[in-house]
Amino acid sequence: MPASQDQTLFDLRWARSERDLLSALSGLYDDVPALAERLRDLLHQRWQERPAALKALDLARDITPDWFLSAKNIGYVLYVDRFAETLKGVAQKLDYLEEMGATYLHFMPCLKPRPAPNDGGYSVMDYRAIDPRLGTMQDLEDVATAMRARGMSLCIDLVLNHTAKEHAWAEKARKGDPKYQAYYWMFDTGVEPAAYEESLVEIFPADAPGNFTFYPDVGKWVWTTFNEHQWDLNWSNPDVFVEIVDVMLTLANRGVEALRLDAVAFMWKRLGTNCQNQPEVHDILQALRAATRIAAPALIHKAEAIVAPRDLVPYLGQGRHAGREANLAYHNNLMVQFWSSLASRNTTLMTHVLATHFPESFRHACWATYIRCHDDIGWAITEEDGGAIPGVSGPGHRNFLADFYAGKFPGTFARGAIFQENAATGDRRNSGTFASLAGLEAARESGNADEMDMAVQRMLMGHALICSFGGLPLLYMGDEVGLLNDLGYAEVPEHAHDNRWLHRPRMDWAAVAAARSGTGPEARLFAGVKHIIRRRKAVPHLAADAPTRIVSLGNDALFGFLRLSDEGTLLGVFNFMENWVSLSGERLRSLGITTFRDVLGEGDVPLHADAIAVAPYGRLWLV
Ligand code: GLC
Repeated sequence: MPASQDQTLFDLRWARSERDLLSALSGLYDDVPALAERLRDLLHQRWQERPAALKALDLARDITPDWFLSAKNIGYVLYVDRFAETLKGVAQKLDYLEEMGATYLHFMPCLKPRPAPNDGGYSVMDYRAIDPRLGTMQDLEDVATAMRARGMSLCIDLVLNHTAKEHAWAEKARKGDPKYQAYYWMFDTGVEPAAYEESLVEIFPADAPGNFTFYPDVGKWVWTTFNEHQWDLNWSNPDVFVEIVDVMLTLANRGVEALRLDAVAFMWKRLGTNCQNQPEVHDILQALRAATRIAAPALIHKAEAIVAPRDLVPYLGQGRHAGREANLAYHNNLMVQFWSSLASRNTTLMTHVLATHFPESFRHACWATYIRCHDDIGWAITEEDGGAIPGVSGPGHRNFLADFYAGKFPGTFARGAIFQENAATGDRRNSGTFASLAGLEAARESGNADEMDMAVQRMLMGHALICSFGGLPLLYMGDEVGLLNDLGYAEVPEHAHDNRWLHRPRMDWAAVAAARSGTGPEARLFAGVKHIIRRRKAVPHLAADAPTRIVSLGNDALFGFLRLSDEGTLLGVFNFMENWVSLSGERLRSLGITTFRDVLGEGDVPLHADAIAVAPYGRLWLV
């Protein structure tokens, strides 16, 4: 591209996003004109360094900015080492990922972490280097290039809320450099920390209680929301903003197409609050988005905020942030409600929560839909929502779910564990793989073929749900072959204290080979997942920009939604019970569904006595 044209593009994109950038910055910092100057220089420099192939991708994304909303997209989440040892190893596995239909690969934390323990890589000491166990920056660039050639986008984690205490900034802060001390939250006495603690919650109460740590060598208290080794960055300092923008663009210039912005809810602190989801967080996210849209428009942002519904929706841009914030955000509520309905065989709460708190669509943004990820399941069910359902209470239901998925509730099909019991609040979360929580582990123990089949059907229903609900579905490594809980984590010294490693098993390639050729439950699961993915890609109604309207199907075991697409309406039906359930023809017709063609099962569903029968854990995509 001739230099003048290059400059024109930059100027046009600056003009396009300037207002989004400056209006957000003015909610955060003083002297915005000077900051804007600094940023413009930085963006321009990184834009000039951007490789030609990526500049071409920028143009393509300018033309189809909503590419990630297409039903053709499927996400796959993997730990580089646990999947293929190294980045080079992952490059060798792209055929497999293509077979799974993946178009978006999220490599779990791969930037250089502090030596273990490092919170599964979320304690980063160098944002510009790759974890040496996995390879080099060149390897990352190579795998990104190979992926791009196959139409796959690379997503990596960027931890925004904190750095490792061994990060160069933290090291300098520790040595007393005031510039870098201002990058963190450091206090001379315990008075301010104590004042903040009054309204803060603990994230890892069992093994990292409290939110502050005193360092006698520095003579200061440091804000450490998560673990002691993770120092919270001070985003009220504009230098932190500029540094992180630089990091984002540097990574984007290596071929990263999506950044998973970790723990964003915590980025702004305000005395007297729980210091989560503060309004300024949304300004920061808008400003970051505007900045990368100028200098690396191909990059999209995924926000990780695992919070209650009211606080979650704004991360996809509401009000003045609409269409300007994260492109993707984790729908943790869909995930929680899936597990809740599965345990109770009742979808009333799920229907209520998803219909009440969530808009039907977003502007230039959508959910990342998932059933399992590398984290625990926190039962984000409010007192208010629980209380809205007869016979249910928030705390009672949360307790039931924690017991059910720890394998403690009488008659449960699940095998899992309690994660981080909070003695003070009674809060309990759960760990466990999709397959173990869905009953495959228990069924394998008993050897009961019917139970095995039920477990497979539960998992396939979950996959069909995230592939049709509206959003970018994320398949978590190993869930396509039903990997069970990995009890071996307890033997690994740096993992033993954190039972989230229960559901981070190594990829089992022998299991994949067996699933390919066998006939057992894993083979049925594997074939079923591939079928669902194939069908999703073929049904344009499922594009994420088609609004999702939650509907009641008149039967407590069934969950349903309409996808109101330009192609016509699709009704998704999901049976959360191990029995056949009847769905009335009258109800279907009232929702505008008259022909009962199931585009997932690829057949017509027969009507008997003006009702259709939905199989145990059945799922239908009716058009
Ligand atoms: C995010 C990650 C989680 C990590 C935390 C702190 O929530 O998903 O694994 O422990 O951030 O970085």
